[in-house]
Amino acid sequence: MKYNPLGNTGVLVSEICLGTMTFGGNGYWKAMGELQQNAVNDILKTAVDNGVNFIDTANVYSFGESERLLGQSMKSLGLTRSELIIATKVRGRMGEGKNQVGLGRLQIMQQLEDSLKRLQMDHVDLYQIHGFDPITPLEETMRGLEDVVRSGKVRYIGCSNLAAWQVMKANGIAEKNGWTKFVSTQNYYSIAGRDLENELVPMVQDQQMGILPWSPLAGGFLSGKYTRNNQPEGDSRRLNFDFPPVNQERAYDIIDVMETIAEAHGVSVARIALAWVLAKPGVTSMIIGAKNTDQLMDNIKAVDLSLTMEQLEQLDEVSATTKPYPQWMIQRQSSDRLGTYNFSPNQPAAATTSK
Ligand SMILES: NC(=O)c1ccc[n+]([C@@H]2O[C@H](COP(=O)([O-])OP(=O)(O)OC[C@H]3O[C@@H](n4cnc5c(N)ncnc54)[C@H](OP(=O)(O)O)[C@@H]3O)[C@@H](O)[C@H]2O)c1
Repeated sequence: MKYNPLGNTGVLVSEICLGTMTFGGNGYWKAMGELQQNAVNDILKTAVDNGVNFIDTANVYSFGESERLLGQSMKSLGLTRSELIIATKVRGRMGEGKNQVGLGRLQIMQQLEDSLKRLQMDHVDLYQIHGFDPITPLEETMRGLEDVVRSGKVRYIGCSNLAAWQVMKANGIAEKNGWTKFVSTQNYYSIAGRDLENELVPMVQDQQMGILPWSPLAGGFLSGKYTRNNQPEGDSRRLNFDFPPVNQERAYDIIDVMETIAEAHGVSVARIALAWVLAKPGVTSMIIGAKNTDQLMDNIKAVDLSLTMEQLEQLDEVSATTKPYPQWMIQRQSSDRLGTYNFSPNQPAAATTSK
C-alpha cells in the first residue's frame, strides 16, 4: 500500500480509502448495500489488515447507521483510533424537519455532535461538506467549520461535489479571515466519468489540495460484470439504481478495451478501471465500495497493478471526451507557451489534440 499526503497537510492516507455506503441499508440506502455488524467487521478488518488507514462515511449514509456500524466495528475489533483517519460528512437530509439538512452553523454544530456519538469518537479527522447549500452564505459555512476545528472535534475540513469556483470562493473567504481551508475535494471520478478533469483537477493541482475520487467503478458498472451482452443476476446495485449516471454505449466501448487489458494481466476488469484512476494526476486516495471481502480484496489489489504507458494511452483514448469551452481554447492558446508550437507566420497555434 502506498500512502500520500492528504492535500497540503502532514497526514499520510492510504491510496485506497474504504467507503462505507454499503453499510446499513436503511430506507432508500438499501439499494447501495445492507451490510450488518458481522459483515462490516469482516470488511473493516480485511481493509485494515491490508494497509488501509483511511475510511469515509457520512451522516446521511443509511441515516446514521453507517457511522454507527463503523464506530462499533472499530471498538469490537479493538482498532487503535489514532492509527485510522476517519472522514465523515454533513449537508444531506437527516429527517423531515426544516433544519435537518444544510450547511448553516446550526446544522454543522448539531450534525457533528450526532456523528461523533454514533461513531463513539471525540473527534473526526476530516469533516467534509457533502455538497453545495444554495441558501446558506459560504461565510457562515466556513465560519461554522472553523469553529468545529477550533473546538478540537475536527482536525481538517474537506468538500465534496462543489464546482471549482465554489471551492475557490470558500477557501478565499477562509484565507481572508485566517480560518481553516479545505484540504481535499471528494468527487465522482471514473474512467467513464472524467468531467472533473476540466476544472477541478487543474484547480486541485494549483491549490495543492487532494482529490478523493468516489464511485471509481461507477457503482459497479465498470467491474466487468456488465457488458453489452451480459447483465449480472441478483441484487447488483446498478440493476435498479442508475447512480452515478453513465453513458452506457460509451462505457461499453471502454469496457471492451479494459477486458483485453485485463486478460493480458490475468486480473479482473474492475482492477483495470481502478488502476487507471490511481494513475491519474492529483488523486490522493480512491474511495472504493464493496459488498463483501472478495470484492474488497479484488479492489485493494489494484494498488499492485502497473499499467504500461501504452495501456494507459489506450484507456485514455477510448474514454476521452471533447473538451468543453474554455478548456479547448486554453489548450490551443497554451501551445505557443508550452513549447508545443513553433511559430510560423502562415500557421496559427493549434491544440495538439482535439480530445
Ligand atoms: N461524496 C459523495 O457524494 C459520494 C457519492 C457516492 C459515493 N461516495 C463514497 O465513495 C464510496 C464508493 O462509492 P461506490 O460504492 O459507488 O463505489 P464503486 O466502486 O463505484 O461501486 C461499488 C459497488 O460496485 C460493486 N463492486 C465493487 N467491487 C467490485 C468487484 N471487484 N467486482 C464486482 N463488483 C464490484 C458492488 O456493488 P454490486 O455488488 O451491487 O454490483 C459495490 O457496492 C462510498 O462508499 C462512499 O464512501 C461519496
